Amino acid sequence: MRAVSANFFALLFLCAFASVFYVWSALENRVERHKRMFSVPGGGSFYPSLPVDLSAKTFRALLAVPPAQRPHLGGRLEALNLTDISVGSRNYHMNGDNKRSTQREGPVKLGSPVEDGIFWSKWLEELLPVGFTEEYARTWRERARTHRIVKLESGCGRISNQLATFADGTKACVRYGINADQVQGETLTYYLASLLGITNLPPLILSQLNTYSEQWAAVRTRIDSLQWSDRAVVSLTEWVSNLTGVVTPAPLRQESSGLHPALEELRNKTTVELLELVQWTDLIIFDYLTANFDRLVSNLFSLQWDSRVMERDTNNLLKTPGGDLVFIDNEAGLVHGFRVLNMWEKYHNTVLSSVCVFRKRTAQLVAELHRRRDSRKRLLELYRDSEPLSLELGFLSDEHAGVLQDRIDRLYKHILYCKGKYSQL
Ligand SMILES: Nc1ncnc2c1ncn2[C@@H]1O[C@H](COP(=O)(O)OP(=O)(O)O)[C@@H](O)[C@H]1O
Ligand SMILES: [Mg+2]
Repeated sequence: MRAVSANFFALLFLCAFASVFYVWSALENRVERHKRMFSVPGGGSFYPSLPVDLSAKTFRALLAVPPAQRPHLGGRLEALNLTDISVGSRNYHMNGDNKRSTQREGPVKLGSPVEDGIFWSKWLEELLPVGFTEEYARTWRERARTHRIVKLESGCGRISNQLATFADGTKACVRYGINADQVQGETLTYYLASLLGITNLPPLILSQLNTYSEQWAAVRTRIDSLQWSDRAVVSLTEWVSNLTGVVTPAPLRQESSGLHPALEELRNKTTVELLELVQWTDLIIFDYLTANFDRLVSNLFSLQWDSRVMERDTNNLLKTPGGDLVFIDNEAGLVHGFRVLNMWEKYHNTVLSSVCVFRKRTAQLVAELHRRRDSRKRLLELYRDSEPLSLELGFLSDEHAGVLQDRIDRLYKHILYCKGKYSQL
């Protein structure tokens, strides 16, 4: 008798669950239908019109698509005649150089912003904020590995990120990640940026939430209440004060013809505006290589139902009062970004094709990674040598390492295309 009534109650519970699920699905369908009614903004000159089939999907739904097809390189590449350069660190930190700051703010124009066809001019490069230098990052990382965390609270976005305060009062954003892909993406993009000489990412370390770890001992109760599992590997990035949002500059919006050397308005920009554009060109290269859809690309996607999205701050991009762009929240890069590539690739291509001006140094490093075809080896070595928990967290699969090399080759080909198109000007 007891078994019969248990079965009856189980059946009743299943029916109730099924009804709730049915009502929920119907509601979601209505929301989707509503979204489909929004018209696609038209007419961009380098952004193609957006596909109707994608408009039926929400941003969240896109995160759950099956593994992407591996893209293939088409055509032979000509050699890009860029001499090798050694990547030494320039040892000053954000806004630390007063002479540069004064020159940046002044109205002085030191000549054309573009040289050698497709590269930002040397005078601009010399005024460029250097971001988090190698030396600064190394010091921060050493400290962050040993300092105790005395407080964990909200302040770094969603609940799975926490604002940590170290015993010395400095702060970091801890990312727990919904799964290991995200922490891996955040970490490996950080090291890829380092390989490319891009210094706009705050320094990062990994840490393990070990029960016996002294570093986390003071916030153990908070960790338990967040239900973070023991031994999880989390990332910590330096928390930077006084950051503000950044709106996508006009030449990179859908109604523009793109950011290229022949763009007349480049001649009328102030030095500060040009310096921001220089950093944007690195950002676009970086997000293309890592297939990070959670910045400019997601804005482009959102245009389908939000025609004013470009007038708002760009996702996951902040700026210091001195004009240094800070690329935060890179967890969609490399691992997750490669997994969902088939959904986003056309947007990545669109954004990349909108840019034909580059930092010479970044282009040279891309050319070197293309020529040597050793991006996997170099990224792995740098990661392994810099991060004691690299084995614990793991590295890119062979397939994803191949996707990265393919993207480097495609980017190289794009730079060559721009050189061919604009060098005669
Ligand atoms: N390194 C940082 N320094 C300062 N503020 C940060 C930093 N990282 C994140 N934040 C703050 O937290 C917000 C959300 O961060 P983000 O990492 O994008 O979280 P989410 O994963 O929720 O998208 C940012 O807009 C910013 O205000
Ligand atoms: Mg974010």
